[in-house]
Amino acid sequence: MKHSKILFSVLCNCCFIVQCTAQINAYQYHSQKKVSASKGAVVSAHPLASKVGIEILKSGGNAIDAAIATQLALAVVYPGAGNIGGGGFMVAHLKNGKNITIDYREMAPAKASRDMYLDANGNPQMNLSQDGHLASGVPGTIAGLFASLKYAKLPFKRLIQPAIDLAEKGFAISEAQAADLNELKKEFLQLNTYPVVFVKELLWKKGDTLIQKDLANTLKRVRDLGAKGFYEGQTAALIVSEMIKGNGIINLQDLKNYKSKERTAVEFDYKNYHIVTMPLPSSGGIILQQVLKMIEKRNIGSMKFQTAASVQLMVETERRAFADRAQFLGDADFVKVPVKTLMSDKYITQRMADFKPGKAGSSQVIKAGNIKESEETTHLSIIDKEGNAVSVTTTLNGSYGSRTVVSGAGFLLNNEMDDFSVKPGVPNMYGALGAEANAIAPGKRMLSSMTPTIVLKNKQPFMVVGTPGGTTIPTSLYQSIVNIIDFGMTAEDAVNKPKFHHQWLPDEILVEDDFDAATITALQAMGYNVNKRGQIGRTELILITTGKTKSIIAVGDKRGDDDAQGY
Ligand code: GLY
Repeated sequence: MKHSKILFSVLCNCCFIVQCTAQINAYQYHSQKKVSASKGAVVSAHPLASKVGIEILKSGGNAIDAAIATQLALAVVYPGAGNIGGGGFMVAHLKNGKNITIDYREMAPAKASRDMYLDANGNPQMNLSQDGHLASGVPGTIAGLFASLKYAKLPFKRLIQPAIDLAEKGFAISEAQAADLNELKKEFLQLNTYPVVFVKELLWKKGDTLIQKDLANTLKRVRDLGAKGFYEGQTAALIVSEMIKGNGIINLQDLKNYKSKERTAVEFDYKNYHIVTMPLPSSGGIILQQVLKMIEKRNIGSMKFQTAASVQLMVETERRAFADRAQFLGDADFVKVPVKTLMSDKYITQRMADFKPGKAGSSQVIKAGNIKESEETTHLSIIDKEGNAVSVTTTLNGSYGSRTVVSGAGFLLNNEMDDFSVKPGVPNMYGALGAEANAIAPGKRMLSSMTPTIVLKNKQPFMVVGTPGGTTIPTSLYQSIVNIIDFGMTAEDAVNKPKFHHQWLPDEILVEDDFDAATITALQAMGYNVNKRGQIGRTELILITTGKTKSIIAVGDKRGDDDAQGY
């Protein structure tokens, strides 16, 4: 196929004319891992999406405009996690000093029920909560994008056009994407009722063009009709007819009823910094506050990066925070969550009272405090020249979600229902446990770990950061923040150095393959069970220093196709 450059009409003020547009070559591109900039920056999981975002900034859009356009582009060029059939969270610090969060997490359909994934003997059928039609919650992404539009400057039509072009004209897939699509071929064939664009007869290879005409048409309906172009009319009818084909339960009323919600951010001080992050239904903000507050007075900086002492301290804070997550956390619109207590200094201090340096704790002994979620999510971080900062994490849950594509509408549905606690004590795909607080109920939102975060210094954005990774999200964030603030690392090192994770149960420390061998040996000598695993997260970090001149360093994680753009 002869490739030509896609000329994104989005950047034209007047109309969709080629002459006044920036050129993004969708067939030849590479990942830029780090950029220094003075005005604005965009970091995301895919070079084409980052380029779309930066062009929006350059053409007068603000960080919220860029976040909307980047998310829509990711839904096309990064279909494993970028989405319109899933959900997400946005945390933003606006130039007027206001902090906002938008929750567009998926919601359980009206026909969902507590035991819907249990068989007649009460045994969980995890394939149903993870694969195919019944695994999907009502998608929230399009509602979330329209909710954020009130903070944007440019018309929605301009923000969505690059995604439409990329879907209609196609783009060259990366090596990693080719490998993913080849690996999932069997599932795509099993879980779909008609041929999907992600399957072809021969193996996919790097540079092959992926064209998504049905998706382009869905995006055009959203462009022309707004959120109704997704939640009502033809797209809604296609979703419901897909549900009927595969025994799914999302109906027209569920779609019409879906609402995103602005929520009060989790905000707290850590040393001389102010952290702004996501509240429930994400567990991430609460976990991040708990773990950072548990180490705040313990001078972790003097213990140095990834020594046995510093890793042990952080692991023990993670153990305690995740025990609380399993017991207490769920959608606070549905269940009573003791948020104030969980985040109080007194409670947090008391949680570490039994910490013993040099000796492994035990999850049999350390349970939740005594008071009456594959990892294919994706993150983008953006800063603009006006001082608006946006941190968005969005997800289909597993890689390519439920692997079910809505026939005729061309987008993948999420498998987010698995983030509920299908049965108390039964781990989900991330090994996370849950209790009654995260049980399934109609209209309820499943507990998440997504932790889009902004760190302020002197009331100005200092870090814009986030990552995919299921339950490893808050612990990766924790490490990125401590790496910068306490270990004085560069942005690149803070993102790319090996990461570790502990989540109470299973009682083990997971470390990336390149984690320091001597530290592993020392942790084992303390009594820890340490296991290697593949990569943890894909962090997108922007670091802003303000002095006489503003300096921006944006870094995309080395672990994927992640890409940083700036100007
Ligand atoms: N589906 C991953 C999360 O929300 O944490």
